[in-house]
Amino acid sequence: MQKSESSSRKSFVFDLQRTHHNSQLRTTDIGKEAILMGWVQNRRDHGGVIFVDLRDRHGISQIVFDPQHHRESHALADQIRPEFCIAVQGKVRARPEGMKNSKLATGDVEVVVERMEIFSKSQTPPFPIEEEASTNEMLRMEYRYLDLRRTKIRRAFELRSKLNHLIRNFLIEKNFIEVETPLLTKSTPEGARDYLVPSRLYGGHAYALPQSPQLFKQLLMVGGFERYFQIARCFRDEDLRLDRQPDFTQLDLEMSFVSQDQIFAMMEDLWTLSWKDLLGIEIPKPFFRMSYADAIEDYGTDKPDLRLDWKLKTVTDIFSESQFKVFREAHDRKHKIQVLKIPQESKLSRKDLDDLTPFAKAFGAKGIAWIKINQLEDYDQGWQSPISKFLSSHEKKALTDRTDLKTGDILIFCADSPSIVSASLSAIRLELGRKLGALRTQDWAFVWVVDFPMFQWNEDSKRWVSEHHPFTSPKPESLSNLFEKPDQALSNSYDLVLNGMEMGSGSIRIHQAELQHKIFQLLQLSDQEIQEKFGFFIQALQFGAPPHGGIAFGLDRWAMIMAGGQSLRDVIAFPKTQSGQCPLTKAPSEVPSSQWAELNLKVQKVPHG
Ligand code: AMO
Ligand code: AMP
Repeated sequence: MQKSESSSRKSFVFDLQRTHHNSQLRTTDIGKEAILMGWVQNRRDHGGVIFVDLRDRHGISQIVFDPQHHRESHALADQIRPEFCIAVQGKVRARPEGMKNSKLATGDVEVVVERMEIFSKSQTPPFPIEEEASTNEMLRMEYRYLDLRRTKIRRAFELRSKLNHLIRNFLIEKNFIEVETPLLTKSTPEGARDYLVPSRLYGGHAYALPQSPQLFKQLLMVGGFERYFQIARCFRDEDLRLDRQPDFTQLDLEMSFVSQDQIFAMMEDLWTLSWKDLLGIEIPKPFFRMSYADAIEDYGTDKPDLRLDWKLKTVTDIFSESQFKVFREAHDRKHKIQVLKIPQESKLSRKDLDDLTPFAKAFGAKGIAWIKINQLEDYDQGWQSPISKFLSSHEKKALTDRTDLKTGDILIFCADSPSIVSASLSAIRLELGRKLGALRTQDWAFVWVVDFPMFQWNEDSKRWVSEHHPFTSPKPESLSNLFEKPDQALSNSYDLVLNGMEMGSGSIRIHQAELQHKIFQLLQLSDQEIQEKFGFFIQALQFGAPPHGGIAFGLDRWAMIMAGGQSLRDVIAFPKTQSGQCPLTKAPSEVPSSQWAELNLKVQKVPHG
């Protein structure tokens, strides 16, 4: 081992002693010797003199192969191609006037090469490594190690690394203990499907990869740690989107003897510190707070994007006697009618408005109605709409008052079940906000959404499911009739939303075994299921569990939004595609039948398209 290491070392002319990295050389270095290493960005032959941009992680230096200065130089330069990894030695000299490049930190100087070594050659890359070259994303992911050579891409990872560092410093300072919890574990219910790892030793048994460290962090509170955090990998087999990966990272934390307000204050300090230190931006504190009920009523979503001021208004009651059948029937069926007012002067054509119907159909809406108010007082001619003639003066007056209507405004209606109305109008709100330039894209709109319902009715399985997770405590005022009126129960859970994206979610937990058991029963788990799945946890709660609460943030989302990315893939080194595949390693891959057999499993081959 020793021998081969030293002999391979000797094969390098330069012994890997670089004197400068590629963004260091300045006019003060003129006349000095420099040894530079890196990758060939490009090569320009100017009839005899050859210029090469040499790139490393830090920047670019121009190196020159000048036969007048050094005879063998030209022959050397002939050998190299883009992305060769090389070392050069030479003298720093000033670039002639007119040849300086003010865009480069090293743009006033160049190195005239005397010696060169090729560490390794490169095949022609499948795409140019230059910053702005647009390349198919699949190809970029397949050759991700080449994609990562781009400065813009690497910057996102440098930022993410600094963010991790800042988080760790902040929490350690606040007396948190960083603890790692198992990856081979038992299912924790966060609402997605588990990734299973079959056990070789226990046929028919499997570990589950954690959807989050939820139960372990609560056990650490029972263990008396008081303040825990972890930068934790989580695994969820669910439908993927731009803001969801099957394996992703949380900043997960938990505290004992803590109130919601204390958690909010500390987390606001952490989030604003990250903006200040890493982006140089001051975010005002405290963050805005909004109840879940208000978020749904005013914005149609529990992730309201507050960079846009427009709100929805419920107008169901106005149409109790309406001649317009669609609205009258919605009222009678106890459905909901909501309207979105687009304020004056927005340039929306009739076609733009008609196009909203197919747009909203994707969210389940049967239709969308609109009214353009060309002249507010003129109910006959001034209210332009396919439905105007069906609306009475009384209804028009009521709409005017309810929405504070002015000439030039546009009203957009949806009548349907509350969830369809919310989904459709919240999507239209954002779509038009973007299109009309009303969304303040430079803003950072943080909001805590609080007072979530405890449960949600699941129509498919005909039972209540937890809105957050089953370890979330009910609000004290909901405790007395929790079991009689689960639909009305509110929980001590909260989300942090930024620019309409859920950044984190948490709650004050249940710390009494008896209540925890009852909640499982309400979720229609049998006593046997409770025992099998959560017996160990309920038992732990019987040994003096402290009151506790916490939160987990999507760290990929946090880094993505700070780095100005559009997709989590921008801040994940080796990400998966929307269909859960790794374009580089081609995971998931077939497994030899012998390996399945070891796990006591037999598999059926399924063709993939
Ligand atoms: P929750 O399930 O809401 O809560 O997850 C917390 C945060 O993790 C991020 N996140 C994801 N990011 C990328 N890809 C995914 N597939 C993905 N799923 C979730 C989101 C989300 O807000 N144990 C609880 C937290 C707690 O109660 O303390 C939990 O995991 O930003
Ligand atoms: P229809 O009776 O389907 O021709 O619809 C008459 C008008 O009402 C059209 O302008 C539709 O776009 C609109 N409309 C239909 N269904 C709805 C609905 N569920 N909510 C709002 N508007 C609707």
